[in-house]
Amino acid sequence: MICLGIESTAHTFGIGIMNDEKVLANARDMFVPPTGGINPLDAKLHHEKVKEQVLAAALEQANLSMDNIDLVAYAAGPGLPPCLKTGAQFARQIARDKPVIAVNHGVAHIEIGKLLCKCTDPIAVYVSGGNTQIIGYASHRYRVFGETQDIPIGNAIDVFIRETYGKNRKAESFGGPVMDRLAEGGRYTELPYVVKGMDLSFSGIMTSAIQKYNKESKGKNGQEKEQLMRDLCFSFEETCFAMLTEVTERALAHTGKNEVLLVGGVAASPRFREMIDIMCCERGAQSFVVPREYSGDQGVMISWTGLLGCNHGQKKADTDFNPLWRVDQTEVPWMK
Ligand code: FE2
Repeated sequence: MICLGIESTAHTFGIGIMNDEKVLANARDMFVPPTGGINPLDAKLHHEKVKEQVLAAALEQANLSMDNIDLVAYAAGPGLPPCLKTGAQFARQIARDKPVIAVNHGVAHIEIGKLLCKCTDPIAVYVSGGNTQIIGYASHRYRVFGETQDIPIGNAIDVFIRETYGKNRKAESFGGPVMDRLAEGGRYTELPYVVKGMDLSFSGIMTSAIQKYNKESKGKNGQEKEQLMRDLCFSFEETCFAMLTEVTERALAHTGKNEVLLVGGVAASPRFREMIDIMCCERGAQSFVVPREYSGDQGVMISWTGLLGCNHGQKKADTDFNPLWRVDQTEVPWMK
């Protein structure tokens, strides 16, 4: 069976094509706002503009036509409503009389990670611009053992960089890769460490780091400002990643699982991977990180999860979407 998967939950419009064995295509186009964060309506306009091109690129990569596609899957949530609507409507439009299946975006991140890393029953650490959750399978569902109580970690990183170092710079200079680069050569300065039970909070850390930068950069020359930024980026990563590692370790201890899988865009951060590796090594657990090409949003993960659902009797969907659809509200009949 060949499945075409559509991802459109946030900034990325992606189409992946898989058969039961391998990836046949991975095409995508990412919306980068000229300034500030993502305006959902602008992202939707972007998706509308590029969807046909991305489809053509995916079919060309796979050397297939729509006639060869057996199943169309789409990400039905969670995500930005206008963007979800575009993906759902496009799925129905291109499927015509083929079956269409709705996929949960968070479950898809986990499933593509499990497939590519060859792990079976991990604690998944789902860290991105739109989500931060510590997830594990138990009693027929993926269960959320811990999550952010306010903003996702990737969003906290983006806003911090944008409001400090990113001012007067191009939008491409925002986000995790910039923080990773600046954190090298940084020294620790105290920021709030906020773990509440199994949940986390990142908004206070973000605000504190922005305030520190605004206060302490006054009167400094360019080089001194750069060092301040390095110190804050280093401390931001050390604090947030330590919080996530602490909660992940407790999820491992609670469930008795022995695998950790990092998924989502922030999984690409080398320092976070190092911290999780050390924790797993000390516990005799194995750590896995989804390959970089599949850590961010893409259609391949939607395609693969669509295949899993279809092969395990999951109901076909009418084109509908749910912006608040949680992983723990999702049936996963392919799990034991
Ligand atoms: Fe995502």
